[in-house]
Amino acid sequence: MQSVTTGSSRLSGFVHFCHGASFTKDEREFPSAMQTEGATIILREITKTFGKARTELVALKKVSLEVAPREFVALIGPSGCGKSTILRMLADLEVPSDGQILIDGSPPSAIRQRHQLGVAFQQPALLPWLSVAENIAFSLKIAGKTADQDTIEDWVELVGLQPFRRFRPSQLSGGMQQRVSIARALALHPRLLLLDEPFGALDEMTRQQLNLELQRIWSEHPMTAVLVTHSIAEAVFLADRVVLMSQRPGTIKEILQIDLRRPRQLADMRTPEFHRVCDRVSELLFER
Ligand SMILES: Nc1ncnc2c1ncn2[C@@H]1O[C@H](COP(=O)(O)OP(=O)(O)OP(=O)(O)O)[C@@H](O)[C@H]1O
Ligand SMILES: [Mg+2]
Repeated sequence: MQSVTTGSSRLSGFVHFCHGASFTKDEREFPSAMQTEGATIILREITKTFGKARTELVALKKVSLEVAPREFVALIGPSGCGKSTILRMLADLEVPSDGQILIDGSPPSAIRQRHQLGVAFQQPALLPWLSVAENIAFSLKIAGKTADQDTIEDWVELVGLQPFRRFRPSQLSGGMQQRVSIARALALHPRLLLLDEPFGALDEMTRQQLNLELQRIWSEHPMTAVLVTHSIAEAVFLADRVVLMSQRPGTIKEILQIDLRRPRQLADMRTPEFHRVCDRVSELLFER
């Protein structure tokens, strides 16, 4: 079987082989990846309040959303409307005040405990005493997955950090730390990938390259993805559906299906069709 050609041959081979019948060395190293099909998410009338009495703040009000296995959903909305709170609840870091969250029919704690959750949040939260490569290897180890040096090197290469592979987080720029965090989340081959403005600190060129890589990895590997972004173009480029949220208390204003042909190329971002979709998102987002 042939592997797809990208900058990262061994990884591409692994991802590609996931859909094939024959076993490869890489599959034996990541057996759990073959058993996953992407998670199903159900948010049922989620309300989230912080604080009590006079300090009470309603962050989210009756948010309902269903995400299908292997779907890519982008959340977009004004600052403070509760996007990160939704991701934190999906990651089992917060609990709803009211309503129900089910991932594959169970509360979010179940997928987290099975180590089938990959997260890259606004703050990269790397282990400061470990190098770039060691941070990636460590998260695999915690998840009970073994990875050889070559595989780790592939992930380091994928996010363009080979020259910095031995650097500690304090020696990296904010954008570089974000890239380690993304590699760490993807290396787990999660059933559910949660990304909170993962590319916010990156220059436009790196951001677009990583958007492209993310699309490739997501399309070749069975995972459901929920991305929070402030970039309309990024949401439209990556997502099957864009969920538009209102000002706090956050509610879902509108859900837009993005029917642009896949795989999407960076050149597509310059087409009139792409601009039309972005304009529509922008119109809906800013209308009162
Ligand atoms: N732990 C917390 N305690 C108290 N209030 C909180 C907490 N976490 C979030 N909030 C409040 O909930 C609201 C939603 O916050 P959240 O971080 O989800 O917004 P966001 O949509 O991700 O914003 P941004 O786009 O700026 O990242 C905000 O008003 C915030 O102050
Ligand atoms: Mg946020």
